[in-house]
Amino acid sequence: MKKQQENKNIIILASGNGSNFEAIVNHIRQENLPITVEMLVTNNPEAFAIIRAERLGIPFKIIDSRKFRSRSEYNRALDEFLSLIEFDLMVLAGYMMILPAFIVRKYWRRIVNIHPSLLPAFPGLHAIEKAFEYGVKVTGVTVHFVDEGVDTGPIISQECVKIDKNDTLKTLEEKIHRVEHKIYIEAIKKVLF
Ligand code: GRF
Repeated sequence: MKKQQENKNIIILASGNGSNFEAIVNHIRQENLPITVEMLVTNNPEAFAIIRAERLGIPFKIIDSRKFRSRSEYNRALDEFLSLIEFDLMVLAGYMMILPAFIVRKYWRRIVNIHPSLLPAFPGLHAIEKAFEYGVKVTGVTVHFVDEGVDTGPIISQECVKIDKNDTLKTLEEKIHRVEHKIYIEAIKKVLF
């Protein structure tokens, strides 16, 4: 008999559009996975991810980073909030703030991030644009554990995306996002089970 998998709780941190957040929730629901998305946490009160959370019926918490006098004050508030929730994995999905080392260490190997390039190529912001402008023929998507650096943690999974002659930045972005929406949940499952 197949062993029943224990339910796992995840939280998702996002600052913007939230398409990865929504894709994760949809995969969990469609595949009936034993994963609960406990909450969306955002630093941006205008994030479209909030509208998605409302639509999907996922609780959300806004900790407005602009309302704090400094980054460290914001991070202390985030840390306090996180310590109130129980979760197995923190999933960064377009979270535009850098997590401070003390939070990364507290949740060591329990924080994952998705990045729209084949790391270690093109870390940081505007990775799709940078790869496109550089003229590489192959780029892709990386899911990795978060460490104290920027886009430097151990890689969990990667998938290539070919840049064709006819691709524009827009079509490349679409291709990358399609791959993101597919591989993030697979990587999350790999880490959790
Ligand atoms: C994705 O391209 C992801 O790789 C990067 O930020 C973007 C977030 O997109 N870290 P979305 O908000 O999930 O639509």
